[in-house]
Amino acid sequence: MFRQVHHMGIVVDDLERAKSVLGKAWGLTVNRDRTPGDEGVLDPTMNARMLEFPLGQAFVRVFKPQDDASPMARFLKEKPGGGGFHVSLITDTPEYDVSRLLNQGIKFWLPPNKKDWDGKSPVYLDPATTGGVIVQVWPDDGYVVSPQYRGEGVFSKLHHCGLAARTAHEAVEFWVNSVGCSVDSRRAPLPDGRRTGRDFDPNIPASDPVQLFDFPVGQTEIEISVPLDGRSGTGRFVERFAGTQPFAIHHICPYADDVERACARLNESGMQQIGALPERRPGNPRVGWYHPRSILGVLMEIWHDVPFDV
Ligand SMILES: [Fe+2]
Repeated sequence: MFRQVHHMGIVVDDLERAKSVLGKAWGLTVNRDRTPGDEGVLDPTMNARMLEFPLGQAFVRVFKPQDDASPMARFLKEKPGGGGFHVSLITDTPEYDVSRLLNQGIKFWLPPNKKDWDGKSPVYLDPATTGGVIVQVWPDDGYVVSPQYRGEGVFSKLHHCGLAARTAHEAVEFWVNSVGCSVDSRRAPLPDGRRTGRDFDPNIPASDPVQLFDFPVGQTEIEISVPLDGRSGTGRFVERFAGTQPFAIHHICPYADDVERACARLNESGMQQIGALPERRPGNPRVGWYHPRSILGVLMEIWHDVPFDV
């Protein structure tokens, strides 16, 4: 089964900028055991230089393409400045999960066929068969990151990977039936999930009315947003891809133990906050948002849970 999100992969045009955002602003540290050197290591599958930043039990990986024709280079051409490229999931039963995916009509991408796979290396699945989102299967390698790369504690874990979907049905069909995740039925019971956002208000950028489904994967979640209003930010985002695919990576959401400190740090580092933090209310998460143009092309959410008894 898939037991943890391994990483979210972000394509960038500038590794120094990535170090500035994830290091100076987020307080993460480059994992020099696996990605030594200022220029990162060459990922031969993607022909890209890669830096890895531990975030709780997961990682943020940034990739700078080294050519003009690789999938990441083509992505960068379409989306200058870069953005969220893929989500990688750890499995402790790779053969079982890969067989189930293949039985559901999902195809290999890199490597192109199962016969080219050694059963231990990561596999990218063909996005034409996964609703347009690039998913990587990462066989558990038992790797434990050294404490010296744990970062400064501004963010303690990857709370969720945010995907946007055009319909709830397609999202549940893929993530439950094909990937084998379960929806968190306490927070987001099927068939309608949970709802958030006020009525659409163009003056409140983070007020998007959406239907949400949470799929816990270890310490992290895959969170699917389905817009209820085509005029909202999420609605316009989905409209851009809905003609060609069911899902796209929408945002990244680390968890802050001290959300005010985290926002202050991001703001001091020049990151562009959208709206303001909501007031502290028992039982309600405090959620902040940052503009993708300041966060490597990826919309950023910050999560902080407020207990019921405060
Ligand atoms: Fe989210």
